[in-house]
Amino acid sequence: MLMPSPLDPQPGCEGSPNLRFALPLLIKELLHLPADSREVTVQGWVRTKRELKNLSFLEVNDGSCMAGIQCTFELPGGVVPGGINAETSRVLSAVSTGASVVVRGKLVPSPAAGQAAEVAASALTLLGEAPAESMPGIPAYPLQKKRHSLEFLREIAHLRARTNTFGAIARIRSRMAFGIHEFFQARGYQYIHTPIITSSDAEGAGAMFQVTTLDLAALAKSGGAPDYSKDFFGKRAALTVSGQLEAETYATALSRVYTFGPTFRAENSNTARHLAEFWMIEPETAFARLEDNMVLAEDFLKFIFSKALDECAEDLSFFDSHIEKGIVENLRQVAESKFSHMTYTDGIRELEKAGSKAGFAFKPFWGCDLQSEHEKYLTETVVKGPVIVTGYPKEIKAFYMKQNDDGKTVRAMDVLVPRLGEIIGGSEREDNLDRLEKRITELGMNPADYSWYLDLRRYGTVPHSGFGLGFERIIQYVTGMANIRDVIPYPRAAGQAEF
Ligand code: 4AD
Ligand code: MG
Repeated sequence: MLMPSPLDPQPGCEGSPNLRFALPLLIKELLHLPADSREVTVQGWVRTKRELKNLSFLEVNDGSCMAGIQCTFELPGGVVPGGINAETSRVLSAVSTGASVVVRGKLVPSPAAGQAAEVAASALTLLGEAPAESMPGIPAYPLQKKRHSLEFLREIAHLRARTNTFGAIARIRSRMAFGIHEFFQARGYQYIHTPIITSSDAEGAGAMFQVTTLDLAALAKSGGAPDYSKDFFGKRAALTVSGQLEAETYATALSRVYTFGPTFRAENSNTARHLAEFWMIEPETAFARLEDNMVLAEDFLKFIFSKALDECAEDLSFFDSHIEKGIVENLRQVAESKFSHMTYTDGIRELEKAGSKAGFAFKPFWGCDLQSEHEKYLTETVVKGPVIVTGYPKEIKAFYMKQNDDGKTVRAMDVLVPRLGEIIGGSEREDNLDRLEKRITELGMNPADYSWYLDLRRYGTVPHSGFGLGFERIIQYVTGMANIRDVIPYPRAAGQAEF
């Protein structure tokens, strides 16, 4: 027979729904119950402990929602009969911020402001202490009840999910990821798992992380050149920069597909919106032109923003009050507005018109890649909202984009938003075999490496379009977090691969 455990559900205490094993309700579930003195069990981590003369309060949080639940302990000898016993009181004295606990008691109306219910505690189990003062071999628990800088929290990324900010980001990421699947599944798109290890550079930008099992130290010692035929895959391989090319192979078979997976870029750009490892959503639609792609991108962003507003309201209001004032209203406006459209050429004209008073570090000219300062100017100053920019010069865009008849521009589209700049990049794809092959050659790439990709144009070619959305950029936009390293659990960037 198993020994009874403090984790066992209390008799008469409601269990969490849809589980075939017994766990008590999560705090977010508990907070929906009427405070009718029913028996409840709370499991979580202590955020704060407060003591009055005869009362002790533990605010317990389990990460299921922003709110914790207040657990009130009536100390022995207190004014109210039926308080906790001496043993519970002894356990309570060892509890501090960060400790893991199980509290049992009755769910009762709370006299305190800002919470409808609290737990009138009758029993307490301390599962794990989190010492507030350092002890031999254990430094003090670093997340004491005070404001910590985001930079400091990045250094303790393994514990930062226990803070309000990072708990909220994790919940929003989870909800948004689910919403992304909902959006595409409801529109006939199939989820395709494109490879993470690949031998093709999907963007042709040469920013790939090599994957090898060659003995680099031995190679360096011998001074020889690497022989990739002896490498694990028998050829040079790398982490994917985008699942697009493989997604295209499935779009030209299943009509509508999307990928949603990790992508990797070895760009040494130390900015607040670039990661070396990020998650990308890439829909690819057969028979769709650039104009259709633009509609899809706009609908998709609005769906995601509405989802955040509807289903992450409590977490969003935290970001609205603590991180970026007005973010909720801003999201609502964007979700209801019509996105502006602008050609690259018109965009450059606006930027040139702004001239020196805009104070650009990089002087704009036709042919230049838009810098983030330019993108921000176009969205924040010119359009005052999201804008879809089309018709970029072919020289600054990837080889696969469909060329316009002017010989200079491609059917590319970037969606730019205030605060961030580019959030989506996409295009109609070149579906003409000769033009695509010629472009690959012009760019000094080897058509033989893309033979399988060219087959899509050799056999049953169709117009098709797609785009890529950086998942972390969306989370940044929705939460107002300034640095992309704070919207992914474990950021990877140049010089940073902790944990
Ligand atoms: O514009 P990008 O490079 O386009 C592609 O990768 C295409 N294959 C997409 C497609 O058409 N299927 O990247 C697409 C988006 C960007 O708009 C941005 O949101 C995000 O991916 N992104 C990054 N996010 C974080 N860190 C980086 N280093 C990123 N690079 C791109
Ligand atoms: Mg781009």
